[in-house]
Amino acid sequence: MNESLVIVGTQFGDEGKGKMTDFYAADADVIVRSQGGDNAGHTIVFDGDKYALHLIPSGIFRKGKINVLANGMVINPKTLIDELGLIKKAGIEDPSLWISDRAHVIMLYHIVMDGLSERIRSGKPIGTTKKGIGPTYRDKVDRIGIRMGDLLDKGRLNDKISMALNYHNRVLEAFGEEPFSASELTERFFAYGQTLKPYIKDTAKLLDERMKIGEKVLFEGAQGTMLCIEHGTYPYVTSSSPTAASVPLAAGVSPQSISSVLGITKAYSTRVGEGVFPTEFDDDVARKIREKGHEYGTTTKRPRRIGWLDTVILNHAKRINGLNYLAVTLLDVLSGLDEVRICTHYRHGGRTIDYVPSSIERFYACEPVYETWPGWDEDISSCTSYEDLPDNCKIYLNRIEQLTDLKIALFSVGADRKQTVVLKNIF
Ligand code: GDP
Ligand code: IMO
Ligand code: MG
Repeated sequence: MNESLVIVGTQFGDEGKGKMTDFYAADADVIVRSQGGDNAGHTIVFDGDKYALHLIPSGIFRKGKINVLANGMVINPKTLIDELGLIKKAGIEDPSLWISDRAHVIMLYHIVMDGLSERIRSGKPIGTTKKGIGPTYRDKVDRIGIRMGDLLDKGRLNDKISMALNYHNRVLEAFGEEPFSASELTERFFAYGQTLKPYIKDTAKLLDERMKIGEKVLFEGAQGTMLCIEHGTYPYVTSSSPTAASVPLAAGVSPQSISSVLGITKAYSTRVGEGVFPTEFDDDVARKIREKGHEYGTTTKRPRRIGWLDTVILNHAKRINGLNYLAVTLLDVLSGLDEVRICTHYRHGGRTIDYVPSSIERFYACEPVYETWPGWDEDISSCTSYEDLPDNCKIYLNRIEQLTDLKIALFSVGADRKQTVVLKNIF
């Protein structure tokens, strides 16, 4: 029986999935990213160095592992080639990297289209990362997408690009943008394909073979449950599903092959981009958290919006993802606050509710109901056990467990790989 662990973001992304994936990758044989693209920014810190990965799974720095970019991803080949250069500089010369031939390619017109899609929203932009994510998934569903496997056959690539441009160039010109040349795009993307050729494979089939011989697989989520196209704060979401339920489809593995799901939550909340965020606040405490937690986007450098922990959202993520455990990250950032708050419910139209409304208009109208707990002053960044934590910090963690009815399997007290405290072995 193989064992697999899915790592998902329970909030609005940037929960520390990269750090947790790097941590558990030590015990995995294969690490898989199944959805999203270079809208993701995953930070890994060890031995005094810091890396930000956008496409390559965060297991890449653990030697001797296979890292997979699966079929549900959308891949900007140029970003991927640059990222291969980055890991090479870090000493990973010859990575075991598998890229799905079914994954979709982010083309240059998708990036322009991303900007256009924001412009037509009548002053209500999503605040996307402008990486072309939405338009690439749109073309996938519209069946005019280009797949990684297409990059390897020049004639086929040219035909597919020409077909897509029949549509896209007309739209671009109607909006006053320059049209693209099929032959120029074909040359450029065929060249990317030649560079990436050694890695492009039928990853679903290969993964199945590895699972059959009992290898351990770690699935690294990107984004977070509240950015899910199905269960997030639509339309202020990304264009894929960053949930555990999406993993089998987006990686091409059996639903039975998922053994457990670990939800990553910050000890507070952040959001980057537009959209509803009930526990958001913006005062000196928020600024303190932003600076201490370096809460600036890994991909776009935008300041992240700050909020208190929201257990209505955590319980939504628990239900959608079937969470088995929680990991609490950035706990150290809360040291030095007089008090900490946890949202337990919302007030809406004179009623108390404990779920995430499906209508964004209703969600905007929700007022968070808080519990307030005393803070702690001690620097906890060198704590190595639960017992080391100040009492008020222990109370805070215990309260999260009570409000979610989930066990915290580990918590994190700093960005470094070593600043991780395991409470329960789950993989
Ligand atoms: P991801 O997108 O979920 O992988 O998260 P990001 O890497 O975008 O953002 C998380 C940020 O928090 C990164 O800068 C991490 O280095 C940092 N980080 C992760 N865990 C901790 C922690 O426990 N404490 C502190 N202070 N920083 C952390
Ligand atoms: P990681 O994996 C935080 C947000 C964008 C925007 C919305 C849609 O690092 O947690 P998109 O470019 O996907 O069409 O943008 O989703 N977003 C993220 N926010 N972390 C991410 O990834 C994100 N990926 C997308 O800011 O609000
Ligand atoms: Mg991130």
